[in-house]
Amino acid sequence: MVRILVAGGLGFIGSHLVERLLRRDDLDECLVVDNLWTGCPQNLDHVLDPRLRVLIADVEQASFDGRFDEIYHLASPASPPWYMAEPLRTISANVIGAMRLLEVLAPGGQFAFTSTSEVYGEPQVSPQPESYRGSVDCTGPRASYDESKRCVEAMLFEARRVLGVRVKVVRLFNVFGPRTRVDDGRAVSNFISQGLRGAPLTIFGDGAQTRSWGYIDDIAEALERYFWRDGVDFAGPLNIGNDREISVLEVARYVQGFFPGTPIVHLAPAPQDPSNRRPDLTTARRVLPGWRCAVPYEEGVVRTIAWFRAEMGLEDAAPARAMPAALSAGAANAHRFATSRGVGI
Ligand SMILES: NC(=O)c1ccc[n+]([C@@H]2O[C@H](COP(=O)([O-])OP(=O)(O)OC[C@H]3O[C@@H](n4cnc5c(N)ncnc54)[C@H](O)[C@@H]3O)[C@@H](O)[C@H]2O)c1
Repeated sequence: MVRILVAGGLGFIGSHLVERLLRRDDLDECLVVDNLWTGCPQNLDHVLDPRLRVLIADVEQASFDGRFDEIYHLASPASPPWYMAEPLRTISANVIGAMRLLEVLAPGGQFAFTSTSEVYGEPQVSPQPESYRGSVDCTGPRASYDESKRCVEAMLFEARRVLGVRVKVVRLFNVFGPRTRVDDGRAVSNFISQGLRGAPLTIFGDGAQTRSWGYIDDIAEALERYFWRDGVDFAGPLNIGNDREISVLEVARYVQGFFPGTPIVHLAPAPQDPSNRRPDLTTARRVLPGWRCAVPYEEGVVRTIAWFRAEMGLEDAAPARAMPAALSAGAANAHRFATSRGVGI
């Protein structure tokens, strides 16, 4: 029987991961530590499993009773407006948090970390393989996030090399879906919450910047398989995401189709917003045979709108169109999404 610790387990991805951990028969206890910075207790409110315990605390200072066989370190905001507003706190959550968590890893235990595609910075190659060393500005406005993720990767691979710690590092590309905060501040959730409020959809810059959005169920499935279910013996780093690249403008137009009459407006570009982002999934296909992002982006948006509608208390309001004109256009233009590129989030 195993004791598991999930730092950041009340967040978007963490709560989905915890739900999957609780399906395990060999689980004795799952302790979530979260300081509610960007997480919400409601994300796990529905869970009645007595093996789940929640500790509201900063991971850096939390006191834990005993050691843990598996540790999952997700404690960090993922959205630029949140981490850029509190950069030192972001560095602390990632770096000091990882050091604190290493202290309570049981001998022979596994330490898993959610790193990010942001370690590639403003990528000069596309798609980005794990071997690409990235192009990060270490004194730029996104450095607190990018560099703290890189530092924790360094810390874990050194702990593995010098101390033999079993580590697993994933580099997640953009993830979206239910339990994203309404005020998260990234493109998909912004457009949906703006559309539901009847507000203009705001794009930072011209919208030509591309991202690769993976739906949460597909990403959580990859994490479950890699971290425990498949018995994978590979430390990483492992890219996980959707390799279908879409411009931010295409996303805005697609979401706009659900809210007829809602305009798209362009604001000043976000500082050092990467122009492109697309995972090379060669390693993921080898390590997790058969895994892929199965939920099409369009379907993921439909599901996310439904969730946001409930979250914003709009269930009684007139529903948005179930199938926007943009859907058929979007499907027909799937080949174009795959190659669209540009500047920008
Ligand atoms: N969502 C994405 O698109 C994405 C992409 C790449 C990497 N990631 C990584 O995945 C992880 C989870 O991301 P998410 O989207 O669920 O973000 P999130 O903001 O929803 O979740 C982060 C959780 O960590 C908690 N937290 C932050 N600092 C803490 C601290 N010092 N002590 C205790 N708890 C703390 C927050 O309250 C929140 O519950 C993060 O490490 C993030 O960097 C996410």
